[in-house]
Amino acid sequence: MATIGIMSAMHEELSAVLAEMADQQCVTVAGRDFWVGHWQGHSVVAVLSRIGKVAAATTASILLDRFQVSSLIFTGVAGGLAPEVRVGDVVVAQGFIQHDMDASPLCPRYEVPFYGRACFDADANLSAQLAQASAQILACAPEHFGHEAMGQFKVLSPRVHQGLLISGDRFVSTSAESQVLSQAFPSALAVEMEGAAVAQVCWDYKAAFAAVRTVSDRADDAAHTDFQSFVSGVASRYSLAILSCWLKDLPTEGLGIT
Ligand code: ADE
Repeated sequence: MATIGIMSAMHEELSAVLAEMADQQCVTVAGRDFWVGHWQGHSVVAVLSRIGKVAAATTASILLDRFQVSSLIFTGVAGGLAPEVRVGDVVVAQGFIQHDMDASPLCPRYEVPFYGRACFDADANLSAQLAQASAQILACAPEHFGHEAMGQFKVLSPRVHQGLLISGDRFVSTSAESQVLSQAFPSALAVEMEGAAVAQVCWDYKAAFAAVRTVSDRADDAAHTDFQSFVSGVASRYSLAILSCWLKDLPTEGLGIT
């Protein structure tokens, strides 16, 4: 049975996933706890990603090399960049770029040296499946997550978006910086700190990768406000519900990876 790697960016997300894995066993590698077990009949390894590109790339490499996962799903939060991407929406990545990669003049800005590309694609089938699961969950978000939690963060009718995620080793918390990023990457939906690095590692290992991010802030001057309570009150519960819905409908053999 193919093993699925689940990288959670937040403690709350991982704890919720572990509560669903009855037979979990912990294996510690490089200071990281990898939880091996089953969820909805699927063989999974769940781990905290850690924050930032290098830490997440290390975690991904161990999942791929040591635990031989054939596909890897990242769940976490992101700052919305595109005007239509609001707090409480979900972004399913189609591609990833490191916004802080600049080896010019050796190669064009944003291009990763030796790869001849700036953008690393998400697996199309996995992403389509996760977008469908996300839409299913968001369609009844208040029932799932409670009117009170949704109201507290003014999440009215959350939507699912699919497109470009950009990653860099910075929490973007000023409107000035998010404007610069939006100008440099007009098609970027949201910004986060790990996805493009993990996508590059998955490219090296020829493994399928997908990422589902809940929009926790608008990457502007108010980005830090209520961040932690949003993560525990809304985002970590979204992740659990979306992954659970996706795994429930997934055949145990054959992930439909492209
Ligand atoms: N993850 C969530 N919000 C973010 C932001 N504003 N910048 C970078 N990573 C994030």
